[in-house]
Amino acid sequence: MTTELKKLPQHIGFIIDGNGRWAKERGWPRTKGHEHGVKNLDVIIKECFYGYGIPIVSIYAFSTENWNRPQTELDCLFKYFTKYLKVNDFVKKYPHVRLNIMGDYTKFPAELVKNAKAVIEATKDETQFILNLGINYSGQDELVRAVNLMLGEKLAPTVDRATLQKYLYTADQPLLDLVVRTSGEQRLSNFMLWQVSYAELYFPKIYWPAFGKKDLAQALLEYQSRDRRFGAITAQDA
Ligand code: IPE
Ligand code: IPE
Ligand code: MG
Repeated sequence: MTTELKKLPQHIGFIIDGNGRWAKERGWPRTKGHEHGVKNLDVIIKECFYGYGIPIVSIYAFSTENWNRPQTELDCLFKYFTKYLKVNDFVKKYPHVRLNIMGDYTKFPAELVKNAKAVIEATKDETQFILNLGINYSGQDELVRAVNLMLGEKLAPTVDRATLQKYLYTADQPLLDLVVRTSGEQRLSNFMLWQVSYAELYFPKIYWPAFGKKDLAQALLEYQSRDRRFGAITAQDA
């Protein structure tokens, strides 16, 4: 399947939803869903980078609104994120990947922050692949942050798209080509509102921990069948 796929997205985003429901369906606590969800991140990210050669992967793992969950669930999520970001493991499992965190990760527990900083530092010179990890992320906050950064630099009274783009977490990166949200929910929940502008959207009815390599292949095939017009008309319509 891998080699048949031509015209792949250059930037793919995942809204990794459904961990809790996946666990509940099995009579397990929601935290078990997060454990499997974080494990599955590894599988899918590796497949995107090393299986398909997709250069940029963006993951929505924790929104600014997710702080509203019970403390026990938050503690558990933070534990798995902390483990996921252990620097020695990270560089071993993701060669040639630069980690770019989207969101104010300094609000998390100290060990998580320490691990995140170490991975950012250890991977900062990598150029082949980028992993944008959204934790404590909100697309609206990202835009507000960009505006405040621009105000702080006292730029000219008006700015253009290219200038604003430079103040986003994804400055200098291409916009999203494809966004996959698992679990069947059909909304963005504040995910990369600028970058999503012309992305193809795909909503498989599969909970994130169960979203496997075959489902990723299906998403990419679906992407290839879409007619991306960007406001223009295609040759056959002319
Ligand atoms: C996604 O799964 C993980 C996070 C948002 C942190 P959920 O925890 O949202 O699982 P559901 O949607 O309640 O099933
Ligand atoms: C979206 O999932 C955020 C992440 C996947 C991190 P949620 O489960 O928080 O979204 P809603 O509440 O269903 O919109
Ligand atoms: Mg959810």
